[in-house]
Amino acid sequence: MNRIITLTVNPAIDKSTTVSGIKPNNKLRCSIPVYEAGGGGINVSRVIHELGGTSLCMYMAGGPTGNHLNDMLVDFGIPQLVVPIEGWVRENFAVTDTSNKEQYRFGMPGPMIKELEWKKTLEQLEAVLTEGDILVASGSLCPGMPTDFFARVSKIAGNKNAKFILDTSGEALLKGAQAGAYLLKPNLGELAKLCGVETISFLELESIGKTFLNQNPCEVLVVSLGPQGAVMLTAQLVEYISAPIVYQKSTIGAGDSMVAGMVLALAQGKSLLEMVQYGVACGTAATMTDGTQLCKIKDVEELNGWISSNSNITQ
Ligand SMILES: Nc1ncnc2c1ncn2[C@@H]1O[C@H](COP(=O)(O)OP(=O)(O)OP(=O)(O)O)[C@@H](O)[C@H]1O
Ligand SMILES: [Mg+2]
Repeated sequence: MNRIITLTVNPAIDKSTTVSGIKPNNKLRCSIPVYEAGGGGINVSRVIHELGGTSLCMYMAGGPTGNHLNDMLVDFGIPQLVVPIEGWVRENFAVTDTSNKEQYRFGMPGPMIKELEWKKTLEQLEAVLTEGDILVASGSLCPGMPTDFFARVSKIAGNKNAKFILDTSGEALLKGAQAGAYLLKPNLGELAKLCGVETISFLELESIGKTFLNQNPCEVLVVSLGPQGAVMLTAQLVEYISAPIVYQKSTIGAGDSMVAGMVLALAQGKSLLEMVQYGVACGTAATMTDGTQLCKIKDVEELNGWISSNSNITQ
């Protein structure tokens, strides 16, 4: 089994609560908030842990919120490598209106990072990464970080012969993809931006994806399609994996859960098809839990069984 390292440069404390009826200019009486460790790679590490795997969770953190995050990960028993920074870890906020089940998600930008701090992160990554590792960089950059940060990470992973998986968006994704990754997991909107087009229809997906793989040093492209599942493309393969219909509670964390499932399957030496099927099972399972909660192993196993046994009729 390969070692998994997750990298989160902009972690978060995800705070969620509920209220009945959201009206402006009124005091809104919320329920007791739930705090969770969040941010792309941190979610990936948490899901890997839930699925019985192990990963080294590397992240930049500072301030009292950074300590809170650290404590929560210690409680989970997740191995950590913290790069200390001066700024405080951000707090995101999600509120569900119980009167209509609408959910409002407020995402914060994260602290301002100094050049010395992001350079230190790259140095530490270089020191810890070894051949055969699977490195997952997930989530957004913080203010002050260069948009080619993940391109620099890609270079380090390449030099170390580690498999690099990138799940981010915008300019950071574009530059990271151009530098090279083993696997990318954009959603449809992120893929459109990567390819410099407004939107992509399902009919164009295969040809646009193949062109992208031809023009960028990436081996596997998994495009997640929300309730429609995902499509996986390589130079030789095209596989569509449908997501089962489930009782959906909250889609927060679906993408991160999907990435976690794929990474764990990859580390266990599963085939690319099994990898995406397991990823879709994890993503879908994440939609069955409330608020910011991630997927549960019992749901993942049930859904993965369904997806695997129905794969011949879903393609
Ligand atoms: N409504 C849904 N019903 C069933 N499965 C879903 C639903 N939404 C998401 N999923 C599952 O989760 C996976 C990832 O979801 P999605 O495509 O929304 O990722 P994303 O846009 O990266 O999400 P995120 O906002 O978490 O980053 C999908 O491929 C699918 O398997
Ligand atoms: Mg995503």
